[in-house]
Amino acid sequence: MDITVRESIPSDLPIINKIFNYAVLNTNYNLRIEPRSQEEAQQWFEKHKAENYPILSAVYQGEVVGWASLSHFREYEGYNTTAEVSVYVSKSYRHRGIGTMLLTELERRAKRYRLLIAVITDNNTASISLHSRCGFIPVCTLREIGCKNGEYISVTLMSKKLKNNVI
Ligand SMILES: CC(C)(COP(=O)(O)OP(=O)(O)OC[C@H]1O[C@@H](n2cnc3c(N)ncnc32)[C@H](O)[C@@H]1OP(=O)(O)O)[C@@H](O)C(=O)NCCC(=O)NCCS
Repeated sequence: MDITVRESIPSDLPIINKIFNYAVLNTNYNLRIEPRSQEEAQQWFEKHKAENYPILSAVYQGEVVGWASLSHFREYEGYNTTAEVSVYVSKSYRHRGIGTMLLTELERRAKRYRLLIAVITDNNTASISLHSRCGFIPVCTLREIGCKNGEYISVTLMSKKLKNNVI
């Protein structure tokens, strides 16, 4: 498959949001309950661009089939050397290496950070495998920290220490 990973552009946003909302509405992998509106997605996109946090798109035959981003991890400045990763692949394109490509490219663009962190629900075996494969290590599991669709959800934090000296 000839997949290109590139920086996301504003016209990618509707499909990025569609892929995100599929996980919101159909899985317990993401603890958001209501779908994200296009307006909210626009604000998310603009904030990332303004703060220089990357959003990447995986493109196959001109169509966005997955995306990944780095985001600010918690509010205080003392966390500025850490970024949280997100990666989503369209359902019909999974298990073909696209998640790995996105995560690898995201890490290549993470020069400003010492630590990458992934917040993964315990039932998300695909995501846990993907992050393990890319060198993330499980740090801890927060038992029953969330609740969605009538189920208590445990969340595993996985992290990867980068070699960047950022201080
Ligand atoms: C998690 C996700 C991004 C993986 O993307 P992907 O493109 O399928 O990942 P890859 O094809 O690069 O696979 C990487 C590894 O993940 C694992 N994996 C992928 N799909 C899997 C599945 N359905 N079941 C078990 N393991 C799976 C495999 O170990 C694979 O390594 P391998 O090819 O050597 O076996 C994708 O399943 C997804 O979008 N899920 C819904 C959204 C989500 O949960 N995002 C993460 C939130 S933390």
